[in-house]
Amino acid sequence: MPFTITVFGFLENSFHGSYVWWTWAVVFVLSLVLGFVHFVHFFNSIADSRRSPKLPIALGDEIPSKKERIQRYSTDTRNLLINGYTKFKDQVFGIDTTEEYTKLGNLTEEQIYVVNKELNPSLLIHQLVQDFWPVDDFESFTPVKAYPKINRLVSRVCARFFQGTDAAHDERWLDVAADYIHSAIVWTGNLKKWPRYLRPLVWRFVSGRHNMMNQFEIGKYIAMSTTVMQCLIDVSVYNQYVPELREEISRVLEASGGVVTKQSLQQMFKLDSFIKETQRLNAPDLMSFQRKVQAPLTLSNGVLIPKGARLMLPTGAINMDAQIFEGPEHFDGLRFYKKRLESEESRNKYQLVTVGKTDLAWGYGRHACPGRFIADVTIKLIMIEFLMKYDMKRPESGARPKNIEFEGVLTPDPDWELLFKCRSC
Ligand code: HEM
Repeated sequence: MPFTITVFGFLENSFHGSYVWWTWAVVFVLSLVLGFVHFVHFFNSIADSRRSPKLPIALGDEIPSKKERIQRYSTDTRNLLINGYTKFKDQVFGIDTTEEYTKLGNLTEEQIYVVNKELNPSLLIHQLVQDFWPVDDFESFTPVKAYPKINRLVSRVCARFFQGTDAAHDERWLDVAADYIHSAIVWTGNLKKWPRYLRPLVWRFVSGRHNMMNQFEIGKYIAMSTTVMQCLIDVSVYNQYVPELREEISRVLEASGGVVTKQSLQQMFKLDSFIKETQRLNAPDLMSFQRKVQAPLTLSNGVLIPKGARLMLPTGAINMDAQIFEGPEHFDGLRFYKKRLESEESRNKYQLVTVGKTDLAWGYGRHACPGRFIADVTIKLIMIEFLMKYDMKRPESGARPKNIEFEGVLTPDPDWELLFKCRSC
């Protein structure tokens, strides 16, 4: 316990006067308590490692140091997952993380019920998107840092949709929503520098939290705005799809008298496919179906999963599996469109909102995202507006910009600029 010994040695030279004496007595007691907690934690971690299931570990052979593997998990999650998935496909495998669950709040059962059963996205969203439109009508190609603007638009639309007119105009609330993901990444990173057992004590004071609230909803808005931004990046990088997308949008809208309805959106197979392909390669989360084991669980192959273990699916790696997706590293905007045309039965599969063993962006099973139908409508409406209003391209030198990644959470670089030019100006 080096920390305790150091404090104690310092104490001996500093006993002057009763005030000083009391101060140091308190420090002494505190250091004893901390030392004790360290001691308990030390034995707990030994017990933990004994309780851990015997599983192959991703990068276990390549990187002997657990500390380094944890570091890899934080900064290079995608490759870590691909390594584990490729080697131990169809098996359960372990990854070394710093984690306990970091709970940022959640919806109540009633709220989940409302999202599931009672919300019906309507023309309201279309009106809102037009009312809060964030980008000017530039006559020539003009660079715009689009992500913060998209973020604001989506937050406004969602705030209006879920919380009422006032929230959509509450600039402070919108600031919090806009800064949420950045704050979440900074705060979580800082929190994880503390030993795990001290986190429940220090989390409130760790820097980066000032702009975070216990707002689960914001996380969902962010998932939507990052998806829209990733789609716009793909539009600008893979410009060859734009004529086909525009043709489809014009054709469908003409048939519905120029009105965007839920039914007309369902007929836009190519747009649906393009967004799903963006989500395959750049979903906001590289892991889905995240669960914490509440009671020990024995799998059919005999592997015992202890209480407290975290389970998840390596979605980011599954999405790169060549046996599931042909040429998985290539962006094919019409990949799912072509699949849907293969047979009558396939027409209703491979959709953006589909949930299945190879469609994992919305999670899986009973708790798969109930908000995906609203997200589907909102994302498409914003995309239609952008595609029909602007020509978009990336800056001359630009390859696809690198995402900011931390522990499997992906966010587009807010500083990356897209060039916009109004089509009818
Ligand atoms: C692109 C946008 C979104 C993505 C990628 C996304 C993704 C997800 C994922 C991966 C889960 C976990 C599912 C599981 O563990 O099996 C989830 C859960 C959930 N999402 Fe979404 N989501 C999005 C938008 C939304 C929106 C807009 C809402 C609300 C209107 C929403 C409401 C929920 C709720 C309530 C749950 C918890 C469901 C439960 O525990 O039963 N999501 N979402």
